Amino acid sequence: PVYQSVCLYYMLLVPFCLHGNRCEVSLWDSDEPVPREELLKGVQGAHGLLCLLSDKIDAEVLDAAGPNLKVISTLSVGFDHLALDEIKKRGIRVGYTPDVLTDATAELTVALLLATARRLPEGVEEVKNGGWSSWKPLWLCGYGLSGSTVGVIGLGRIGMAIARRLMPFGVKRLLYSGRTAKAHAAEVNGEFVPLDTLVSESDFIVVSCSLTPETQGLCDKAFFSKMKNTAVFVNSSRGAVVNQEDLYEALSSGQIAAAGLDVTTPEPLPTNHPLLTLKNCVVLPHIGSATYSTRGIMAALSAQNLLGGLQGTDMPSELTY
Ligand code: GLV
Ligand code: GLV
Repeated sequence: PVYQSVCLYYMLLVPFCLHGNRCEVSLWDSDEPVPREELLKGVQGAHGLLCLLSDKIDAEVLDAAGPNLKVISTLSVGFDHLALDEIKKRGIRVGYTPDVLTDATAELTVALLLATARRLPEGVEEVKNGGWSSWKPLWLCGYGLSGSTVGVIGLGRIGMAIARRLMPFGVKRLLYSGRTAKAHAAEVNGEFVPLDTLVSESDFIVVSCSLTPETQGLCDKAFFSKMKNTAVFVNSSRGAVVNQEDLYEALSSGQIAAAGLDVTTPEPLPTNHPLLTLKNCVVLPHIGSATYSTRGIMAALSAQNLLGGLQGTDMPSELTY
């Protein structure tokens, strides 16, 4: 048996999983995330689990599943929602969806950067609410990429795809930071620099690293205080890389120019959250990979990962951990 916490992908996954009576699937039958109690009940005795990034897979879930569980397949590239140490102890294989969402996520990040820097949501709002009185020289002015310095924190698959897309806008310098220098950085003339240098010299900072104990809360008061007052901050990785109180302070005090976030803590962000009162903060509901075709490919890949794990064969994208 397989427990699938995803209803949306029913159409794609079921043919994969049921073909030739390969497995019996029980499905959470709603678009809403599976409630914790349902998940704990649903996984009992399962050999496989297909989950979303909103499902926290920890010791409690693994214990509820029991010793049958051989494979966890997540419909995401991020895996900070999986307690890997606990999963490892139990010898469970993990599948995820890298690569297939790189282009969609990079595209969304560039869209968010431009929307934030050029104040698109504010402009749209003004057109609708009658705030557009005439063409005015300084009204709704923002910041452009031409001649700028861009800093990418985490030049991995997605960071690199973002850099490739930004360079043709006339970016002058591309800085990046992370654990190690990357050979592929040469393609975008990327300069490997210490984080402090990146933060103080960039006009745009894009966070594209994974959430780990080292990156948790990386963007805090000290970080924002080193940024230029005219700099724009963009995060499309995980909300917990940012200390949101410190970000609020930096945005409301004019310490930094603007922020665009596709990820927050928590998700969804409560509608009364202070960040949502700020005109210079653009918040999107975690839609980096949200194109029809990408989500379809992610669904198919997670089904194939699941089957590989169940059959004890290769998984197309197995996480080595
Ligand atoms: C999205 O955030 C993902 O991890 O796939
Ligand atoms: C803008 O529309 C311009 O003509 O400068």
